[in-house]
Amino acid sequence: MAAQPNGDTAGSVDPDSEARLIREAAEELAGVVHRTPLDLSATFSRMTGARVYLKLENLQKTGSFKVRGAYFRISRLSEEEKRRGVVAASAGNHAQGVAYAASRVGVRATIVMPETAPQAKVEATRGYGAEVVLHGRVYDDAYKRAVEIAEETGATFIHPFDDPYVIAGQGTIAVEVEEQLGGAPDLVVVPVGGGGLASGVASWLKTRHPQVKVVGVEPAYAPKLSRSLEAGEPVEVAARPGLMDGLVTKRPGRITFSLLSRLIDDVVTVDDGEVARAIYMLLERSKTLAEGAGAAALAALLSGKIEPPRGARVVVIVSGGNIDMTRLPKVVYYQLVREARVVRIRGLIPDAPGWLNRVITILANAKLNIIDIRHDRMLPFLEPGWAEVEVVAETPSHEAVRSVLEELNGLGLPFKAH
Ligand SMILES: Cc1ncc(COP(=O)(O)O)c(C=O)c1O
Repeated sequence: MAAQPNGDTAGSVDPDSEARLIREAAEELAGVVHRTPLDLSATFSRMTGARVYLKLENLQKTGSFKVRGAYFRISRLSEEEKRRGVVAASAGNHAQGVAYAASRVGVRATIVMPETAPQAKVEATRGYGAEVVLHGRVYDDAYKRAVEIAEETGATFIHPFDDPYVIAGQGTIAVEVEEQLGGAPDLVVVPVGGGGLASGVASWLKTRHPQVKVVGVEPAYAPKLSRSLEAGEPVEVAARPGLMDGLVTKRPGRITFSLLSRLIDDVVTVDDGEVARAIYMLLERSKTLAEGAGAAALAALLSGKIEPPRGARVVVIVSGGNIDMTRLPKVVYYQLVREARVVRIRGLIPDAPGWLNRVITILANAKLNIIDIRHDRMLPFLEPGWAEVEVVAETPSHEAVRSVLEELNGLGLPFKAH
């Protein structure tokens, strides 16, 4: 007989029954979802002194782990519930996970998305066969509409995280990790939104190997789990949008909080700059495309907020790869500037023939390759006789930029890098 999670409505599922449910989920999901690679990263191991393994859920069906929980939840509906269909609210990965899982089980799915959801996400969700209802401006509006639809039609509402079956589906990642490593890791780093993923992973590992450390990572601009753990109960925090959109949740769930308050060892926060660097490094070094939420765990490690012991086996969950393509160039550009591979310099030159040419020659001699240049002699604050020049250029090194600025300043031209 199937294990029953106890007390799910009271928010007090215990880790042992959750672990039993995870074992069932692993059987149910075999052959339905990908067993994603667990890659030992030479680069990140060298940078941290640990043995860093990336669990690549960005390569999962639908581009994130969300399909695991959604499929297990939907597969456990009764025949009558399956006939009435499912409904979910999401602007992101949960939408695609539920849409895909429902079509695999053969169940009708309605996904309510905010009107502001990116067209690409709407199309992807429709592409998996779901009916998409656009409603309201933000997730909360979509959520309310989804609950109404569930009441009106008798469809089952699929919660994105606060559900024992959803948590169990996400926990199957830990089952795979254990098999792929041939044992337990020393530390697992998990991104935290509502806490479903972390709850599943921690329930499996901690009940079987209590010595394993599980550390959660959340955005500094939505620190609901850290605050709730401090308060000793789920509390609501102010949250704003950002690069880690999958992790922006105002409060943890009742079930996820109940599990995580018992199981998680630590929670750290990261900001978008740290995450942009992690996305960039995953792309450049591992040829791995991660979205903000998917790179948060690695960001915590690379920024030194988590310091594993030397040689420790550390598993970093790269939870999703659905980054908006309009966002990616900005992330890459941000990091290129930080690494001084692209520089923006701005300064003043005399408004007379030949001066712009001198600037360009100095740049060329130092092997700076101009991407963009602006010359403006009509700025309101400029004294007559001067023009402002701004150049964006690829640079071979910090040193090249320093020598260019020295040379320009030596000519009496006040230039600075920005
Ligand atoms: C890519 C990605 N990572 C992590 C999370 C967080 O998962 P959870 O809400 O179960 O904590 C999400 C949630 O949507 C996500 O899309």
